[in-house]
Parts: sequence; C-alpha cells; structure tokens
Amino acid sequence: MKNILSPSILAADFNLLGEQIRAVKEGGCEYLHVDVMDGMFVPSISFGMPVMESIRKGSDLFFDTHLMIVDPDRYVEEFAKTGADGITFHLEAVQGSVPDVIKHIKNTKSLKGAALRAGISIKPNTPVSEVFPYVRDVDMVLIMTVEPGFGGQKLIPETLGKVRELRAYLDREGLDTDIEIDGGVTMDNIKEICNAGANVIVAGSAVFRGDVLQNTKDLLQMIGG
Ligand code: DX5
Ligand code: ZN
Repeated sequence: MKNILSPSILAADFNLLGEQIRAVKEGGCEYLHVDVMDGMFVPSISFGMPVMESIRKGSDLFFDTHLMIVDPDRYVEEFAKTGADGITFHLEAVQGSVPDVIKHIKNTKSLKGAALRAGISIKPNTPVSEVFPYVRDVDMVLIMTVEPGFGGQKLIPETLGKVRELRAYLDREGLDTDIEIDGGVTMDNIKEICNAGANVIVAGSAVFRGDVLQNTKDLLQMIGG
C-alpha cells in the first residue's frame, strides 16, 4: 500500500500560502490537508470555504479536507463546490445518521468531476471499535494522534495502538481502507507510525516550519512515498 504525505496548511505561513503549497507539490506531495475548525467541535477557529476556493485556483493537489465541525453533513456541498477532493468528518460530531453522512459525501462530486472520497475520524479517547461498523463504506479512517484543535502538539503514543488494532481488523476483513493519522508527526516518529499501519500521514509543523521544500523531500524519503 502506498504511503502518502498530506501536509497540513494549518501550520503554513498564510502570507506565503500559494508559494508554500507549490513547494510541497515540487517536493513530491500529491495531497494537501485542509483543517476546518468551527470553534464548537474544537475550541479554535481556522478557515473555511473562501480559503479553499482561493487555493484551488492555484493547485491541482488532492484536497484532503478535515472537518472539525459540529453536524458536518451541513457543509458537504459547500466544500465540494469550493475544491475538496475528500471530506473527512468526526464520528463524534454527527447529529443524524453516520451512514447517511458517508453516503452524502460519496454521492457528491468534486470540482474535478470525481466522487468525493469519504473519511471518518475519531478523537484520541474514542475507542477504535466504534468505527468498525463503517469501515466497509468509507475510503479512509483518520485516527487523531493528538486532541484535535491545534497544531504543534506531541503525539499521544497510545493512539498508535489504535492504528495497529484497526490495521489488523482491516486485514482480517480483507479491506485495504486507508488509515490516516494526524498530529505530532516528526522526522523521528514518522517511520514508527507507518510501521503501525498508517499509510496517509498528516504533517503540519514538520513540513511548514523551516525549509518547506526540503522538509517535504526528507519526510517523503522517510516513508518511501
Ligand atoms: C489538529 C489538526 C492537524 C494539525 C497537525 O487539530 O487536525 O492537522 O494541523 O499539526 P502538527 O503536525 O503540527 O501536529
Ligand atoms: Zn487535521
């Protein structure tokens, strides 16, 4: 299974956003992680559709959109129309039926004309078994390795146990669903994270602090992506 690096623009310098997005592409990335926060599901507020729309004009990367918002079903069309390629929502944030949200995402087309890819995410304290009923229907499961809400935190080591458990469960079921992790990735732990069974790795600070192009190349080299 291919390992993918998904740089989180939450850690970018917004004064240089277009330039930094071009640098991650030049470094070899295919994904870009877009963190949307509503100040309700998580304490902080980040950005939303206008930023997505603007960066879409200058980039053909896969926009891996992470909705940290209450009742995510409300915003599927808005993010598809402004440039999302995949939408990941939090299990804990759903107010109606989880299968309906998944269907809604998969039945919505991106600007590129493809069906959106659907992801489901859980916070560090949510047991991984809570996503088992949905793994056949989603394209990706995002296991948060920090409490969502802020960049620059330390990875919670226990969350890697959840990654191992999920990968073993998927293997038993004969599924090749992507496992994404998000939060606290560094050059020192990225290898261990992949070995635990994650194949889509979000990195904010590790990419955007310092030399973006070089960081991207170094991280990609570590994961063989
Ligand atoms: C946290 C966000 C992350 C964050 C990761 O709520 O979902 O994507 O940007 O940042 P780092 O890699 O700095 O921990
Ligand atoms: Zn994220």
